[in-house]
Parts: sequence; structure tokens; C-alpha cells
Amino acid sequence: MGQQVSKFGIQFRHDYFLFDKETTPVNHGSYGAVPKPVFEEYQKLLLEDLTFPDKFALGLPPRVEHNLKLIAKVVNTSHENLAFVPNATSGVNDVLRSFPFVKGDAILATNIIYDACKNTIDYVVERYHLKLEIVELKFPASDADVLAKFEGKLSKGNIKLCFFDLVCSGPGIKFPYKEITKLCKKYNVISCIDGAHSIGMLPIDLEELQADFYITNLHKWLYCPRGCALLYVNPKFHKDIEPFPISHTYKGAKFYEKFLFVASNNYVSYLVVESALKFIDETCGGLENIRSYCNGLRKDAIEMFTKEMGLKVLENEEETISTFMFNVFVDLKGKRLEYFKKNVSPEFFVEIRDFVYDILIDGKHTYIQFGIYDEKLFVRFSCQIYNELSEYKLTYEWFTDALDQFFKSKSL
Ligand SMILES: Cc1ncc(COP(=O)(O)O)c(C=O)c1O
Repeated sequence: MGQQVSKFGIQFRHDYFLFDKETTPVNHGSYGAVPKPVFEEYQKLLLEDLTFPDKFALGLPPRVEHNLKLIAKVVNTSHENLAFVPNATSGVNDVLRSFPFVKGDAILATNIIYDACKNTIDYVVERYHLKLEIVELKFPASDADVLAKFEGKLSKGNIKLCFFDLVCSGPGIKFPYKEITKLCKKYNVISCIDGAHSIGMLPIDLEELQADFYITNLHKWLYCPRGCALLYVNPKFHKDIEPFPISHTYKGAKFYEKFLFVASNNYVSYLVVESALKFIDETCGGLENIRSYCNGLRKDAIEMFTKEMGLKVLENEEETISTFMFNVFVDLKGKRLEYFKKNVSPEFFVEIRDFVYDILIDGKHTYIQFGIYDEKLFVRFSCQIYNELSEYKLTYEWFTDALDQFFKSKSL
């Protein structure tokens, strides 16, 4: 592991990331961010592809396999259990749409699942005449409460596959994923983990976890460009899972071989995994160094929001919910709170969102990820190596100023 060559924070952002100088990025969780050296490598490889596509395509599978072997070390499994896929949604689709469900099988999911994945589940449930059961979760819950809710469903004996988030997205909440995976094993249920937010942020050891399926985005917390995610399939299920589309490599091929070249596409995002790992090691001093900075930043930010600003954060007593992402409840009072509660609905949220983003995006060069949870307005902040504590207070104030203008426009 190399030495961190530069101090993390805003200057680090200017030195190593591509954001405009006037932008204050506090929402890494949505699209990630690409460091300059990774982007340079990306451009170089894309040019190599576009200047002689025939040569590039011929040499592609071994280069993809090389990057697969590198990432396999990070998640501690054989590269033969892994495949690059364009994004987490594709990985989830590959699993759910090729798994050999039979009529009447039940899928277990939660009420806080990511919309796109819920749609995929709804599709297979309808298409293959399956059943869907939902674990109803209300946060902040302790890990023990979450596990009890899962066990209540898993122990009934009718569930074929349990689909759950490792860290769900809106709001950002970490699940006790190791224990849920163990519960799945205990009750002989197949585990499918949506770890879209996980690699980079949390240490992932797939040999230890022994999940059946796990999907993670490398473009979120591992500094790869979008179009880069990883699908893990337990060897027991290699023969069942096909890429979408099924392509040249099919009969007689190993699971991972089928995914090395799926069809004509741009594979450059897979080839810069090496460069992203080099950035992590040589420029950042390794993943542990990154985690220590981002977790420290989160702790300081939560302390600032709760102690200094008197706000509430979505966290349980054991403090196991927050990761590099944390959620702050917006403090609405009096007539504004009454109005909010009376009108709360998806349409009302869109009205607030459009009003606020008109002010924030062009006026302040920032974007605040926010939503409604449990009938309360919350902001989800992300912590990254290019952020500093002052940015959370500043952007929160910009956000509440914009909100203030929204309520004033309603004469409140
Ligand atoms: C929990 C979760 N699952 C799946 C996804 C989908 O990721 P992608 O758009 O890369 O497919 C996201 C994206 O934010 C997510 O938060």
C-alpha cells in the first residue's frame, strides 16, 4: 500500500477530481466521482478503441479478465464467481430474470427497496406467477429489530429468495447484511444482496459472507466511471445465471466467461478498474485510509447537526445505520409543518424538489439529495475524501434558504 500523497479535503478535490471549482458536491452516493488519473486512463483507452476497433475488440476479453482478477482480490473471492455488468440494475436483472423460479415460489423483499429493483421483482413475480412477501421496516430500528422482522418471514418456510439492500438509498441506511445472510442460510433461503452502495465504503469479504448473489456498483464508492458494476454468483448457481443479452459465449462456457464480451458495447469502464485501484492505493493510501477519513467526517458532521444545530439524524442507539451516507431530518415548525403534513404526497414532493433545485443547482452550484421518509423531510448527505465539514453546514443552509422561499411562495 502506498502513502497518501496529499491531505484529503477541498484542495484534494481540486487537485484530483473533475468537479468545477465553484461546485460543492455533497451527493457522491448518486453517481460517484471519477478521479483525474482514472479519467485520463479512460480517455486513453477509449481513444485506443475508437482508433482501431478491430484490434481493440480482439484483445478485450483478456483485459477484462485481468481487471476482474484485480477486483476479485478486493472482495476476496475467485474471479470465476464474478462478472462485470454495466450497473447494479443490470446485475439484479441478470439474476432475477434468469434464475429458474417455478410457479408459486415466493420472493421476500423490503418496503424500503430501490424502485428499479422493485420493478424488476414485480416483473418476474407477474411473468412467472410467483408470490411476493414484504418485510415492513420502520427506521430508526435496531439491528436486532430488523433481524427479528426478517426472521419472522424467513422462518415461515415458504420463501425461495430473499432480496435485500446492503445499504438502502433513500434514506441511506445500512442493513445488518451479514446476519440477514446467515438467517437466509439457516432457513435454506437464497440470498440476493443489492450492495449497490457497498464496495469501497465497507470491507466486503465474499468468502466469509457466503451469500448466493451480490451486486455492487464500482461507479459509486470505488471511483470508476459509470457503466461499471460487479455481479457475484455463488458457484452453486453458476449454471443458472446468464448475461443479458445471451451472446457469443454460451454453451459449455463458464459463468464468468459468458460475461467477458457480451455484445458490441463500450467496455472501457471495466478496463479502468486497475487505474481506480491504483488511485486508491497510491494516492489515497488505501481503502482503510479512505474509510477512516469518510467515517470521521460523518461523525463530525452528525455531531455538528445534532449538538450545534439541534437537528435530528436518522440513527439508531447502536449507531449502525449511517455509513459514508447519513440522513438529517429537516426541522419544520408551526404552520409550515402543518401545511407539509397536510399535503405530503409524491406530487407535493416533486413540487418542492423542482422549486428547490431551480435555486440550488444554477444559483449555488450544489445538489442536495432529499426526500420524505415517515412523513418527514430529510436530507441525505454523502461523505467523501474531497469533502470538508464546513460544506455540510453551508449546503444545508442553502437548502433551508431555498425551502424558506418555497414556503414564502405559499404565504407561510
Ligand atoms: C440500493 C440501490 N440499488 C440499486 C441501485 C441502482 O444502481 P444503478 O443505477 O447503477 O443500476 C441504486 C442506485 O442508487 C441503489 O441505491
